[in-house]
Amino acid sequence: MKNNPWLDIPASDYENHMLEVGQSQILSTLTKKYLEKYKPERFALLGCATGNGLEHINPYITKKVFAIDVNADYLKKTNERFTNEIPGLEVIQWDIQNEGPGFKDVNLVFAGLILEYVDVKNAIMKIADTLAARGVLIIVIQRSRGTSFVSKTKYCSLEKLSGIAHEADENEIDCITQIAGLKMLHREEIELNPQKSFVLLEYISNY
Ligand SMILES: C[S@@+](CC[C@H](N)C(=O)[O-])C[C@H]1O[C@@H](n2cnc3c(N)ncnc32)[C@H](O)[C@@H]1O
Repeated sequence: MKNNPWLDIPASDYENHMLEVGQSQILSTLTKKYLEKYKPERFALLGCATGNGLEHINPYITKKVFAIDVNADYLKKTNERFTNEIPGLEVIQWDIQNEGPGFKDVNLVFAGLILEYVDVKNAIMKIADTLAARGVLIIVIQRSRGTSFVSKTKYCSLEKLSGIAHEADENEIDCITQIAGLKMLHREEIELNPQKSFVLLEYISNY
């Protein structure tokens, strides 16, 4: 965890960068869509940063929320922001490539723009382990065409990511999810602008 460049990116730089490139809003809307579709009792947000998307949790439906990130400062901010609104919130510092903190039986996992920064195989196998029977995993990955993977803004600290950021390979994800016992339910591509799109992949466990 020590050498992860995400640990050196201030929360305010990250939030401002994501707002400027318009990606926070889209991820938040997608989180809302799947919370409403599946009404999970137990939900996990992976790579939660400062909690984008958790504003859509209905605590009467979703009793337990695991907010996961490698950056303890982001988690502190997530906790400060949502602890009153979400009684079942648990923030957990976890590098999702490593052995997990052991929570299980999650009905919905949302992993938006995190596979780009990890070893995809390790991460998917660990994530699949947390799912309940017929639990759903939503993966959002980014596609870039002829432009830098991390969009340039005035928040230079984000440039530290260039050493680890990579486009997640959809074929690899398909292959590993199958090994992990997940079945694809849906795929869609959401165009952000002519150079960038999000690919959303929806999987279910133990079909
Ligand atoms: C691009 S952001 C994800 C988008 C975010 N969910 C949002 O809506 O703004 C990537 C997040 O994943 C976290 N992260 C990166 N590598 C990680 C790892 N190995 N384990 C857990 N979290 C990680 C980063 O700290 C960061 O908060």
